[in-house]
Amino acid sequence: PQVEPFDYVIFGGTGDLAMRKLLPAFYHRFLDGDVPDGCRIVGTARAQLDRAGYQARIHDALKQFVDHASYDEKRVRKFLECVFYLSLDGSRADSDWDGLSGLLEGGEDRVRVFYFATAPRLYEPACANLHEKGFVTAGSRVVLEKPIGTDLASAEEINAGVARYFDEKHIFRIDHYLGKETVQDVLALRFANPVFEAVWSGEYIQSIQITAAETVGVEARAAYYDTSGATRDMVQNHLLQVLCLCAMEAPKSLEADDVRDAKVAVLKALHPMTDESVRSDTVRAQYQKGEIAGHAVPGYLEELGHPSHTETYVALRAEVETPRWKDVSFYIRTAKRMKAKTSEIVVTFRASSSQLFPGASRPNILVIRVQPDEGLSYRLSVKDPQDDTFTLRSAEMNVGFPQQFGVRYPDSYERLLLDAVRGNPILFIRRDEVEAAWRWIGPVLDAWARDVAPMSSYVAGSWGPDEATRMLDLHGDVWHEAMDDM
Ligand code: BG6
Repeated sequence: PQVEPFDYVIFGGTGDLAMRKLLPAFYHRFLDGDVPDGCRIVGTARAQLDRAGYQARIHDALKQFVDHASYDEKRVRKFLECVFYLSLDGSRADSDWDGLSGLLEGGEDRVRVFYFATAPRLYEPACANLHEKGFVTAGSRVVLEKPIGTDLASAEEINAGVARYFDEKHIFRIDHYLGKETVQDVLALRFANPVFEAVWSGEYIQSIQITAAETVGVEARAAYYDTSGATRDMVQNHLLQVLCLCAMEAPKSLEADDVRDAKVAVLKALHPMTDESVRSDTVRAQYQKGEIAGHAVPGYLEELGHPSHTETYVALRAEVETPRWKDVSFYIRTAKRMKAKTSEIVVTFRASSSQLFPGASRPNILVIRVQPDEGLSYRLSVKDPQDDTFTLRSAEMNVGFPQQFGVRYPDSYERLLLDAVRGNPILFIRRDEVEAAWRWIGPVLDAWARDVAPMSSYVAGSWGPDEATRMLDLHGDVWHEAMDDM
């Protein structure tokens, strides 16, 4: 449905996320007619910058980050007319709040979104200021970027702090993985296709691997990343969310709370991590110098310039203790400086027990390509056409969604930014989900801090450390890139 004009205030408006993701996403929604005349997008940050200077920065960012086919100079100029800037320190009561009043439209019901793309320690003070200065109207809501905290206690503190000023129904905790079309496809695939619904359990599935591999290093984000690491940056939020969608029971409906209840149930059913399981079921590592796409790249510590205990790679094995998932391993892995940029879900089915054919058949494998090259593939066994006996051979069914539908696959923020305007929370994280995820992953981080499991290393441009291969081997599994030999 058509949205009414809204105000969108971005704290951290000059930052990497705003330039790389948020403004390009708004531009795309503008092209689709979802940022109607009268909308105001107000970037705020401490930097002293005037409106024209801010617009010029965004202009450059759009040139760089919007795909060629969507970039249109005239449309960009029109879009920039709804962009404003205010130098504001959200954490200070004596900052230019009057300036903000001057930029926002009045009216209790006009939608006002306050988007926090800042360090999480600013969330509460900024909310307090918004409240005290009278900015919180009936139409107001806040969007909180991850990471919400660095452990359970700090997450609870942030959540409690923001809850003093905003009702839970007006708090939108963003997890951009949920905005990915192919992540949402997990629900469609599982619950709209009887064939998959019927086999979606430990009876037929041996393991599910969730990988988010990146080729980039930490570069300009080193200061943040070194205090976070792969586990806090990607696992606590994005990858556990994907795991929840893969493992949850059918929600009662597609109402936000039914879906979120079903996800929380998975987080609560994860087998608790102990020192023992951290030793056997987790691998952490840092990249060493290597090569990415033919270019030499430095190791993590060289890039940082100081020693560090932060992992740039994590792989772990989890168990979901529900009848559906008996004897199934869930593997999660993410890292910087891997061989390729790919996010995917790989479902390995149990091997056929049929004795009919000579030789063993290879397991069926379903791959949901989250990105890039969004789509699905399914490996199955067929008869080898070059053989007169019934020897089997693998064949692959492959669907590329953008090609099939002839559409551009939108960036996840395009959907999420407007969901917050519409007040649709289905793809946002509820308070208890954040906390349940920290409750499960916390003991892993604690155990690592006590050096219960060693820090390994991997060559930049590889698929990660050997320890991770061995971890799967113990359960008769292999990582996706090695499956061709399986
Ligand atoms: C962000 C992390 O949440 O997700 C980044 O902070 C990471 O470190 C990014 O690069 C990955 O997102 P995507 O959509 O490219 O997989």
